[in-house]
Amino acid sequence: MNKIPENFTLANGVQIPVIGLGTWQSAEGDSAAGAVKTALLRGYRHIDTAAIYGNEKSVGRGIRESGISRKEIFVTSKLWNSDRGYESAFAAFEKTLADLGLDYLDLYLIHWPANSRQFDKWKQINLDTWRAVTELYQAGRIRAIGVSNFLPHHLEPLLETQVPPMVDQIEFHPGFMQKRTADYCRDHGILVEAWSPLGTGKLLKNPLLNDLAERYGVSAARLCIRWCLQNGALPLPKSVTESRICENIDLDGFEITPEDMRRINEMGYAGGSGLDPDTVDF
Ligand code: A2P
Repeated sequence: MNKIPENFTLANGVQIPVIGLGTWQSAEGDSAAGAVKTALLRGYRHIDTAAIYGNEKSVGRGIRESGISRKEIFVTSKLWNSDRGYESAFAAFEKTLADLGLDYLDLYLIHWPANSRQFDKWKQINLDTWRAVTELYQAGRIRAIGVSNFLPHHLEPLLETQVPPMVDQIEFHPGFMQKRTADYCRDHGILVEAWSPLGTGKLLKNPLLNDLAERYGVSAARLCIRWCLQNGALPLPKSVTESRICENIDLDGFEITPEDMRRINEMGYAGGSGLDPDTVDF
């Protein structure tokens, strides 16, 4: 995998650009709009946002200000937890589209699974939400559908439905590969997307990653992003800084050897969000 391919192919045949710009914690206003516009002008074709990020209006503005044709851009958003359930999901989707100023989405994800700690009927809640998302997909309002932060036991009931999820966006970075979930996804034809591929930036001072990065003549950030791709996961690095936005897609000049992949895969926990989908209370 020396040269990075342009796209992954989802289970329904839709092509998805292999790196997306993350926008979690990109502030609504010029910060998020500027990052999106810069990323698109610098070669990104994939933007990831969510209703809860509170920046969909600015993300939409950045897309329009880039002047790049809508159909060349892959846009993902996510349904927030307070909008779970069949009826609410439709309203949430319409609000997301209106805020983005778009008339379709490329990918729509359920942001977090309802979990057993909060809900006795967690399975049914996830299935009801999924039914609405599936209907929006079947009506042609969304090109592909999936989930985020779902562990295998959350995914299982959805795999029995008419349209199983095509994507699971999970926290995935060196020191936190969620191997069981990632393997389960691969076994079921679900593409893994990596949120916080830099561990929200916490990994960039890690000694092992910096030693290796130095050997390859790259930054620790580029090493982490390339590592995701070589593990078959789609990285969504977040940045609002032009130089970093450019650096994070400059990945063709090096390839991590199998031995170094193994060393990174086996490294211990070195920081991350600490959020567990089974115990979060939001
Ligand atoms: P900023 O947005 O101020 O440029 P993650 O994608 O893992 O959540 O990490 C995002 C964090 O890492 C942000 O604080 C972002 O800062 C920072 N970041 C993103 N790309 C780089 C980079 N190439 N070098 C250093 N820091 C980066």
